[in-house]
Amino acid sequence: MIIAVDGPAGSGKSTISKLVAKELGMIHLDTGAMYRLFTLKLLKEKVSFEDKDKINELLENLDINIENDRFFLDGKDVSEEIRKSEISENVSEVSAIKEVREEMINLQRKFSSSKDIILDGRDIGTVVFPNADIKIFLVADPKERAERRYKEVIGKGGKASFQEIYESIVNRDRLDTVREISPLKKAEDAIEVDTTGKTIEEVKNMILSIYKTKSNDC
Ligand code: CDP
Repeated sequence: MIIAVDGPAGSGKSTISKLVAKELGMIHLDTGAMYRLFTLKLLKEKVSFEDKDKINELLENLDINIENDRFFLDGKDVSEEIRKSEISENVSEVSAIKEVREEMINLQRKFSSSKDIILDGRDIGTVVFPNADIKIFLVADPKERAERRYKEVIGKGGKASFQEIYESIVNRDRLDTVREISPLKKAEDAIEVDTTGKTIEEVKNMILSIYKTKSNDC
């Protein structure tokens, strides 16, 4: 069983996917975290995003591990570090690189093999698993998405500017939508769920009810 959850930045994909996976006893994979992780690697190694040879070399020797929604790079837990604004500001540029996408998609398919799994990202229902059993496309008003991110950062004791978060989200959506390879787009057979004004619990229940309807159809 494969459930694909796609949608723009801050639409709640990871939070909801994690909860639904727990409820259904499935594995969850946050594919955005993988692009964030590789962005961190490039920034750490001070590699230019144009340097294809170096990027290929790093991809070949990439040491990443994913366990229970925690992400490890070169043996170190970087789950918090990959959420920093420096990563958010660069990740869309990195995720538009063809070689990076190819390798990440490879890893995503390998990781998912013979598992009941929920993957969230931008291209899961369109490219990674076009035959997924259930495809959800989560959307929400950009101001509300920025508001959620803002509260998340403040809630964790961090500092943030609402305006900066809003602009970064809108900019990332634009880059993710216009890129040539695997742009952010709703799969034709995906069910669109608008989460504007809805609580996490409400959205979780909407997805669970889609799951129930689909499972009864099979
Ligand atoms: O959590 P948030 O919605 O901010 O974004 P994310 O899911 O962590 O994804 C970060 C970035 O990775 C996105 O803005 C995309 O550029 C890229 N991404 C992608 O290209 N393909 C995916 N399947 C997942 C993420």
